[in-house]
Amino acid sequence: MSHYLIVLGTNTSLCFTELKSVLLRKIRHPLYTKIHPRIILLTLHQDDTASEILALMQELGGIIKIALVLTQLSSLNLEQTAQVIAQRINSAKPFGISIYSKTVENIQGISQSVKKVLKNTFNLSTRFILPTTNSEISTVLLAKQELQEFLLVKGDVDNRWYVAQTVVYQNVDDWTKRDFGKPFRDVKTGILPPKIARIMVNLGLPKRAEPLIYDPFCGSGTILAEALLLGCRVIGSDLSKQSAIYTSENLKWLMQQYTNIQKEYVQEVFVSDATHISEQIKGCVDAIITEPFMGALFSQKGKQMSLNNRPISREYLKNIIKGLNKLYLGVLKDWSKILNKGGKIVISLPEIHFNGYIYFVKKTVDSCEKLGYTLEIGPLSYYRPQAYVRRQIYILVKNNS
Ligand SMILES: C[S@@+](CC[C@H](N)C(=O)[O-])C[C@H]1O[C@@H](n2cnc3c(N)ncnc32)[C@H](O)[C@@H]1O
Repeated sequence: MSHYLIVLGTNTSLCFTELKSVLLRKIRHPLYTKIHPRIILLTLHQDDTASEILALMQELGGIIKIALVLTQLSSLNLEQTAQVIAQRINSAKPFGISIYSKTVENIQGISQSVKKVLKNTFNLSTRFILPTTNSEISTVLLAKQELQEFLLVKGDVDNRWYVAQTVVYQNVDDWTKRDFGKPFRDVKTGILPPKIARIMVNLGLPKRAEPLIYDPFCGSGTILAEALLLGCRVIGSDLSKQSAIYTSENLKWLMQQYTNIQKEYVQEVFVSDATHISEQIKGCVDAIITEPFMGALFSQKGKQMSLNNRPISREYLKNIIKGLNKLYLGVLKDWSKILNKGGKIVISLPEIHFNGYIYFVKKTVDSCEKLGYTLEIGPLSYYRPQAYVRRQIYILVKNNS
């Protein structure tokens, strides 16, 4: 039996929901429990789990690192901690300690004490590096310094301390390459970060092999790219001809970068209004995963939100929401004609925060049941601090009747 600690990304509910969907799809009877707001303890029944853990890391968009649990302690005993670390450490490389605990711990003092025991008791002269912010070593630092990282995690429920060693972490360069390295980025229509696109795909995938995924607002193809990397067949469309071209070119680039993608998995990219796709698509798709048009691209100066340098009123925002509700209700009605029964729609809906008011397409969410869907999960929030348009992700399942 092996125990791992999985460190979630910042939007923890979204990241945990993705993890649960992937575990359910991949592992029979997964055993997991949340031991800290950002950390999941996963138990695997076999001993040889390295390849499964690597595969999990490669598949998920919302996890930062995975660490193998070395021991559990009833209190933070640094002597015992250092003993466990001594058995795993490579003294030729620097090490770092990250602490996840609700109480503030002295990271510098702890690292120093561990180093002292390593030196005095085990004759190991190992350099340590401190986190640059808070008490968590970033994946950028891990990669740059080729650090060996040990985690000290205080369980919220059992109050035990888990000592663990990071075995794999997010490949930041790879995610950045897909975000900024692709030939076309359309900042005017808004670009979904690839990690969020990956999470959305994972939330919508059925269990079957080579599922057919459709994005009817494909923009520059971020969602389709992440679906292809997970072995899906994809179809994309967009109202704008330029976006359809961007998507095709970006997917060609993706296939040059990741040569294991099968060329024929890109089934079609075409121009269409998302409210009329049932007239264009033959047969059914397994899932629709999309970030639709979210309203005009506002900008913010101090407390003032503006569009093309003109201040925006509450009335204006209410009208935007009205228009978006109309569009979203139109697409949901049309998409039920081309989605397999039991198939999922994963959709990211805008929630505008302005001067203490929240504007949201509540009518769309409230009408799902009437349109033949069951609201499975949502809202799962994704936003950056200070953002005035937040993404709220929903999962709808098409009813069987
Ligand atoms: C938020 S962007 C999608 C961004 C995309 N997820 C990405 O990361 O590149 C929304 C897209 O919807 C398209 N769009 C707007 N109205 C549409 C409609 N009625 N039907 C289809 N596409 C539409 C826009 O051209 C734009 O490319």
